[in-house]
Amino acid sequence: MRATALLALAALLLPLAVRAGDPHSYAQPDKVVITHLSLDLAIDFPARQLDGNATLKLHWKDPRARSLVLDTSALHITGVRAVAADGRTRALTYTLAPVQKNMGRKLVIAAPGHPARVRIAYRTAPEAGGLQWLTPAQTAGGRHPFMFSQSESVYARSWIPLQDSPAIRFTWDARIRAPKNLRVLMSAPNEPDHPLDGDYRFRQIHPVPSYLMAIAAGDIAVKRTGPRSAVYAEPSVVVRAAREFADTETMIDAAEKLYGPYRWGRYDLLVLPPSFPYGGMENPNMTFVTPTVLVGDKSLVSLIAHELAHSWSGNLVTAATWRDIWLNEGFTTYVQGRITEALYGKRLADEEVLLSARALEKSIAGLPPNSQKLAPDPRGIGADDALSDVAYDKGSWFLRTLERRFGRARFDAWLKGYFDHFAWRSITTEQMLAYLKPTLIDRYPGRMSWAQVNDWVYGTGIPKDARLPDSPRFDAIDRERAAFLAGTLPAASLDAKGWNTQEWMYFLDRLPDAPPLERMQALDAAWHLTDTPNAEIGMRWYVHAIAAGDRAVWPAAARHMSRIGRMYLTLPVYRALAKTPAGLAFARKVYAGARAGYHPLTQQAIEAILARKPGRS
Ligand code: BES
Ligand code: ZN
Repeated sequence: MRATALLALAALLLPLAVRAGDPHSYAQPDKVVITHLSLDLAIDFPARQLDGNATLKLHWKDPRARSLVLDTSALHITGVRAVAADGRTRALTYTLAPVQKNMGRKLVIAAPGHPARVRIAYRTAPEAGGLQWLTPAQTAGGRHPFMFSQSESVYARSWIPLQDSPAIRFTWDARIRAPKNLRVLMSAPNEPDHPLDGDYRFRQIHPVPSYLMAIAAGDIAVKRTGPRSAVYAEPSVVVRAAREFADTETMIDAAEKLYGPYRWGRYDLLVLPPSFPYGGMENPNMTFVTPTVLVGDKSLVSLIAHELAHSWSGNLVTAATWRDIWLNEGFTTYVQGRITEALYGKRLADEEVLLSARALEKSIAGLPPNSQKLAPDPRGIGADDALSDVAYDKGSWFLRTLERRFGRARFDAWLKGYFDHFAWRSITTEQMLAYLKPTLIDRYPGRMSWAQVNDWVYGTGIPKDARLPDSPRFDAIDRERAAFLAGTLPAASLDAKGWNTQEWMYFLDRLPDAPPLERMQALDAAWHLTDTPNAEIGMRWYVHAIAAGDRAVWPAAARHMSRIGRMYLTLPVYRALAKTPAGLAFARKVYAGARAGYHPLTQQAIEAILARKPGRS
């Protein structure tokens, strides 16, 4: 090859190589990294914006670097200044590149003098993808507005200009001004007794990635659940929430016994309004949680075990790119199971394993081969595209396989050692594997081959050595379901009186995709599933009843869809309706009425479903 051709090729490949670290961020961490962030923001509810500035402390690595490149999305930048050690500032020039899909706008700040700090004055847009603004009417109390952030995966850039990549960690502090009488909470230690004076300060002393930046403000009350835990929620919800989450402190103790000290200080929960788009979000010191788990019998609190587990897997040891997200979610789902087992016993833990494993078995073959891998080939994977049952359930299945092969005592010691070894760092799948080989696989030879490990991590489908726990109760439910569908067991004779939430979920999950209408009507007549207050059961019921053609459930389904913005519970009902022309028309009507109350992410996801022709799922 001629030299010019080589050069041209290098020029083509170089940007790829530089971006290979994190294709979802414009940051150039080989040149410069943020080591500390100082926020000074005012929360302006009428304008639906955060307004103020972010000061970034920088560590310049490359002497040839001429600029600081940051991620932004829909931010209105009003000025950028270098801040000298003595506090004096001078203006820096900057350019904001055009919007790129899924990336936002690259902010390039000319900084040839390598300033130690850069201050960016800005305000957020009302439609910022990482924020939701609720009117008083959209809250439980109805009297005060509410706002909250959801930064994972790439939405921190919509409310803070920064290097929005999980490979980059920084400490931070913040001063936040808000209307008096409202409480402000952030992903740092919060004071339960803070006066509602509209002036809040926060300090996160541990280095965290940008996706763990979080803020919320509203009419928020607090109730303690233990010496280092409390529940925050709107006043009309907080008592119920504290009762549901009364076991939080015991969960922290159980996790510490397994994996060493909880390193963050306090562990608090914030229960959000029902529009919160996820089940939970592991914001450091302050897990954000959906109110849909408040069902009165603690049956869904393994979600808290999950978010708490992220204090080790995810927040302490972090996936370096979104392609490695299974290091967060798979490890966390495994640890979640261990906490659930410690508090509520093996039967419940095994039921939760079976629920997710059976769902994965059903869904995985329908995914493109690359998406079936724990660590997919990075090409063509969007930041949230690597997020599926595979990361959670194949990931945790792999760790349970290691536990089974090496024995619980050895595996527990290994996992604790892994958290200690990589504490406060962001790592790739390959770094995890390079640690796993000498410390477990080669250390205890003959238990699991390296080829089997690689099959779990890089292979498609579910490896042959996968095993599942026994569950006599789930087996009995399989038999009852079969008899009920065959018509030999009347609906009223199902032995469902004593079924817990998970057993109902299992019964409904494994109904045929389009069950006979008459069977669904009989089931509802006997067990009154329509309008159930338990949305995990409700989602599964509406999906199957709609698929069976039972139009009588549509109004109740519409209430479920309008009340709940948690994507996992509401999108399947939209998808079920969208399969027929009449259902699609109805879903569009429901959406028109509910849209204003949904989070931007939920809006986007529903609009994608409704844009499709009926019949396609
Ligand atoms: N960190 C996730 C939520 C998340 C992941 C948001 C990726 C955006 C991008 C959180 O810990 C989570 O897994 N939540 C689950 C909880 C469940 C698995 C117990 C959820 O929201 O349903
Ligand atoms: Zn998680």
